[in-house]
Amino acid sequence: MTEIDEYFDVALELVKNAGNLIKDHVFGCNVYEVKSCEIDLVTEIDQKVEQTLIGGLSKRFPSHKFIGEESVAGGAKCELTDDPTWVIDPVDGTMNFVHGFPHNCISVGLVINKVSVAGIVYNPILEQLFTAKKGQGAFLNGKQIHVSQTKELKKALIAFEAGTSRDEEKMKVVLENFKRVISSGHGMRALGSAALNMAMVALGGADANFEFGIHAWDIAAGDILVREAGGVCIDPAGGPFDILSRRVLCASTMELAQELAKTIAQYYPERD
Ligand code: IPD
Repeated sequence: MTEIDEYFDVALELVKNAGNLIKDHVFGCNVYEVKSCEIDLVTEIDQKVEQTLIGGLSKRFPSHKFIGEESVAGGAKCELTDDPTWVIDPVDGTMNFVHGFPHNCISVGLVINKVSVAGIVYNPILEQLFTAKKGQGAFLNGKQIHVSQTKELKKALIAFEAGTSRDEEKMKVVLENFKRVISSGHGMRALGSAALNMAMVALGGADANFEFGIHAWDIAAGDILVREAGGVCIDPAGGPFDILSRRVLCASTMELAQELAKTIAQYYPERD
């Protein structure tokens, strides 16, 4: 058993238990607050799940660091060093959670030397547990999963999101990309959770996914899921993936990733 296996097992137990907090609100949660704008939401459950995970992990691994969505919203620094760092989105898809649309998840990535080495994406409502560890493959509920073999955009199903910002320039790019991709590919889908969109690429259900404006906590686990399922994660302009850039494009193959990168309009948000 490696150190990463030990870290992963502890995190998995905590994530499964924290999933019960989400399950208690299967039909939605109408008590929430807004953060950066009126479509960027947070509930007490987001905060409770994050506290549970950080509390449990820091007790077992006192030297580990954390980047958590709600801690950062509360003023904590979003600082990524080479040390083992747990990058946590306690409820990815909070808008869905509020409405009772059953696609949300706890997303936990373990990043060491600035690269994701383990990831857990757990949707407790639909009982979908996606897991991956470096060099050991990606799994859905214990069964190994693989990306599709799709190489051409004209045959690809693309997951995307409008995101949680109403910035005008960003909205323009989102609408422009909807037009460009819908007219070049097989179709587009938006689950309302960045981590679940990436998990769909790992599963082979979607062939690619891109988004501008996401944060490290939305994509840390998805990154290793996709790579361990045989896919690629890059910057949406075609260069190397940068977890703090707030930009992601993942795909089943590098050919598809590069074709999509050339097709879409670009947007460069402020970095994490
Ligand atoms: C959001 C969701 C959404 C994506 C946003 C994320 P949150 O995460 O993943 O699908 O479009 O960019 O911020 O706020 O629900 O944790």
